[in-house]
Amino acid sequence: MHQTISPAILYWGTPVIIISTTNEDGTTNLAPMSSAWWLRQRCMLGLASQSQTTRNLQRTKQCVLNMPSDSMVTQVNALAKTSGRQDLSPFKKAAGYEYVKDKFGRAKLTPMGSEMVTPLRVQECPVQMEAELVQVNEMNCGEEGMGGFFLGLEVKILKVHGEESIVQIGASDRIDVDRWKPLMMSFQQFYGLSGRLQPSRLAEIDEEHYR
Ligand SMILES: Cc1cc2nc3c(=O)[nH]c(=O)nc-3n(C[C@H](O)[C@H](O)[C@H](O)COP(=O)(O)O)c2cc1C
Repeated sequence: MHQTISPAILYWGTPVIIISTTNEDGTTNLAPMSSAWWLRQRCMLGLASQSQTTRNLQRTKQCVLNMPSDSMVTQVNALAKTSGRQDLSPFKKAAGYEYVKDKFGRAKLTPMGSEMVTPLRVQECPVQMEAELVQVNEMNCGEEGMGGFFLGLEVKILKVHGEESIVQIGASDRIDVDRWKPLMMSFQQFYGLSGRLQPSRLAEIDEEHYR
């Protein structure tokens, strides 16, 4: 039996990203997010328009998508309910958010330089993708009071850095999917991926076919 339900959020499960962007003063802001999906070398990011990250991304057109492994819950939790914006919205104030200037320090994460963009990478994340903003799409148009509140931001991946422990031995352009353990968020809880299931028919297509 199914029943009609009306969940307030529909976050069925996506990997967590720590997104780096450059603040007005040149420092790097970090923020966790998880409304993201990929097609080829592009990624769609779902972000609140008022967050510091979105403002930085729209102004500078640059970001780094750092992907934490499932052993990095403590660091992601340290960034949760923080904002790089001093003037917090009433929604964030009511939800217990606080302004944090130094997000690397707050989460005890290590900054490292990027190669093609200004925002710094997060060294502890096994995957780091340097990216540039190519298009912005307003979400929730036509919904009372919500138009423009959330944006779908399309970014183009310029460079992918993979930590050697998750890169396939003998095939440096491939991720070893049995060793890549992304941190997943389902609704507002953290999960890891369970092990590999039966062979995938889609995987009969060689990855290089998509290049
Ligand atoms: C695990 C996790 C996932 C999140 N996912 C998103 C998301 O997909 N989109 C979004 O706008 N905010 C998301 N948030 C909330 C942002 O982190 C929050 O708005 C934060 O204040 C943004 O920081 P900033 O203002 O410094 O950019 C998420 C938070 C956590 C902890």
